[in-house]
Amino acid sequence: MKIGKEMISAQEIDDKLAEMGAAITADYRGKDLLLVGILKGAFVVMADLARHIDLPVEFDFMAISSYGSATKSSGVVRILKDLDQEIADRHVLIVEDIVDTGLTLQYLLKNLSVRKPASLSLAALLIKDGVERPPLDIAYEGFHIPPKFVVGYGLDLDGKYRNLPYVAEVEGVD
Ligand code: IMP
Repeated sequence: MKIGKEMISAQEIDDKLAEMGAAITADYRGKDLLLVGILKGAFVVMADLARHIDLPVEFDFMAISSYGSATKSSGVVRILKDLDQEIADRHVLIVEDIVDTGLTLQYLLKNLSVRKPASLSLAALLIKDGVERPPLDIAYEGFHIPPKFVVGYGLDLDGKYRNLPYVAEVEGVD
């Protein structure tokens, strides 16, 4: 396996996050917004997206472990770190790096909605096309990409490459 060509540049990512941030700013103006980042991958998106949101947002994080191989999600999810705060009656926006099978987000939506937030929405930088998944309403979408394994901008392969400032394909992974 080796890191292949750049799929989305750092500039393209920043431009897209600026658009998403402007939409979030408009939609949540006057509301108290809590951004929930899904660790580890979403920490980069969260940091950059938040700086394009012109509102006094708060941050919280959840850490999730999805059983499976390095490159395939099994859909069985375990919470390694829960939110620090209560979300009842709060406007919550889950920030994800990538949606593949959608099973992680489906699990999180179910888990968080029982805590009775005022609203619960999704933002994801990357969405893999051509993957069968449960219906998910992703209010703030970044890029649709082919169903290939990618790294960089928070996404890892065996824990590495999260620090690449762009998104790249990995060669030799099906
Ligand atoms: P899902 O539950 O299948 O939608 O998978 C979501 C999680 O799997 C993401 O938050 C990533 O951590 C990981 N993931 C899915 N596809 C990729 C990829 O192409 N590269 C790196 N991580 C991925």
